[in-house]
Amino acid sequence: MRTPLLAVDGVLHLDGVSLEALASAADTPAYVYSASTISTRYRELTETLAAVPHHVHYACKANASLGILAALRALGAGVDVVSGGELYRAQQAGFAPAGIIFGGVGKSRRELEAAVAAQVNIITVESEAELREISAIASAQGTRARIGVRVNPEVAVDSVHAYIKTGQKGDKFGVPWDEAERVAHLAHTLPAVTLVAVGMHIGSQLTNLAPLADGLQRLESLVGRLRAAGVTTLEFLDIGGGLYVPYNDEPAADLAGYAAIVVPALQRIGLTLIVEPGRFLVAEAGVLLTRVLYRKRTGGRDVLVTDAGMSDLLRPSHYDAYHRILAVRPRANQATLDVVGPICESGDFLALDRAMEDVGAGELLVLCTTGAYGSCMASNYNSRTRACEVMVREGQWTVITERETYADLVRRETVTPQWRTQA
Ligand code: LLP
Repeated sequence: MRTPLLAVDGVLHLDGVSLEALASAADTPAYVYSASTISTRYRELTETLAAVPHHVHYACKANASLGILAALRALGAGVDVVSGGELYRAQQAGFAPAGIIFGGVGKSRRELEAAVAAQVNIITVESEAELREISAIASAQGTRARIGVRVNPEVAVDSVHAYIKTGQKGDKFGVPWDEAERVAHLAHTLPAVTLVAVGMHIGSQLTNLAPLADGLQRLESLVGRLRAAGVTTLEFLDIGGGLYVPYNDEPAADLAGYAAIVVPALQRIGLTLIVEPGRFLVAEAGVLLTRVLYRKRTGGRDVLVTDAGMSDLLRPSHYDAYHRILAVRPRANQATLDVVGPICESGDFLALDRAMEDVGAGELLVLCTTGAYGSCMASNYNSRTRACEVMVREGQWTVITERETYADLVRRETVTPQWRTQA
C-alpha cells in the first residue's frame, strides 16, 4: 500500500490532515483523496513513458468526481470518457475537446451526436455498425469525426478477476481481430470520418504484462498492413489502461517492465502513444473513512457494523476484493473480525474473517486503496445518501463532493402521477 497515511500523535493523517478531525468536520462515511498521491502517480507514469511522444488520458470511469478530474487536468492529463455523462463531466471540469477521447462498447445515437458535436479528439469505435452511424451523424452535422478503432487482440489475459478481462476472444469489447483490418480500412474510406487511431484495452489490474506485448505485436502488424494499403492519417496508438495496483503487500506495478514493452514498440511504429490509466492514477490516493456503529458477537464471530456498506464501496461484495482496513487510532492489539455494512443483505460486507486491529464501537476505520472504483460505483440502495468526498493537500482539506441529502434522493420522483393517454 502506497497511500501516505502517517500516524501523528496516535492518529492517522493523510497529506497532513488528521482523519479524526476530518471525521468530526465532514462526518462519515467520507471518501478522502490525497492530492499529492495523484500527482506522484501521474509523474511516475509520464516519466516511464518519457522516451516516446505520449498522451495520458485518465480513464475517468475510475473516479469521475469533478474535483478529481480538475486535479488531473491541472497536471496535464487528458481524459477518456465512456458515456454522455462522463463527457458532460469532462466538459464541466474544463477539458478542451482535444483532451477528450470517447470510447465504450455501447454508445447511443444521442451520445455519439454529442461526441461529434463536441469535436472530441477521438471517438473510438467497437463495431462496424457504430462506425457507419458516426459517419452518418458527422455528415448530417456537416463536420468530420476523428475515429479510433478499438481492436480485440484476442490474447490470453491475466488479471485478478474475470469481470475485468477484456481482450480475450469472445469478450464483448472491441472489433474482433479477424475483422479489425477491414473495419479500420472502412474508417479510412467512409465519408465524414478520419481514421486517426487504432488501439486496445485488454483488461484491468493486469498481473502479467506478456499479453500486453502480444497485443502490441498484433497492433503493430495491423498498422503495417493499413499503411501498406495507403492509410496515411494514423496519429495514435492507444494501449488502454490496466496497470496493476497493489491492495495489500503485493509489489507495485512493474513500470520498468511496462516501459520495456511499450517504448521500443512505439519507437518502431512511430505513432504517438495514448494510455488510458484509471486505477493507477487514483486508487492509492483514496481512503474511505467510516465509523464503527456497533460491535457484536454472532455465531462465534466478532462483527463490526460500520456506517459504510456496499452502497458506498461495492468492490468487496462484487469482486470479493481485498481492501486493507486500518484503525484511525493505530494499536498493537489484533483480532479476527468481520466488517459489515448497515444494508439489509448478507452480501453487504467490507471484509470477512479479517486479521486486523482490535477496535470497538464508536471508533474510526479507513478502507485503503479506494480512490478508484469506489465512490463512482456507489448507489442509493436502502435509500442511503452517497458519501461526501474530500480532497486533502499539505495540511488542508476541501469538500469536492457534498454528502447527498434526503431531498437529493427524491428529486426526480413524484407522488402525484401525471397520467397521459397513449399518443
Ligand atoms: N480503458 C478502458 C477501455 C477500460 O475499459 C478501462 C477500465 C480502463 C481504460 C481503465 O483501466 P484501469 O487502468 O483502471 O485498470 N470496476 C472494476 C474495474 C473495471 C475496469 C473497467 N475498465 C474494479 O473495481 O476493479
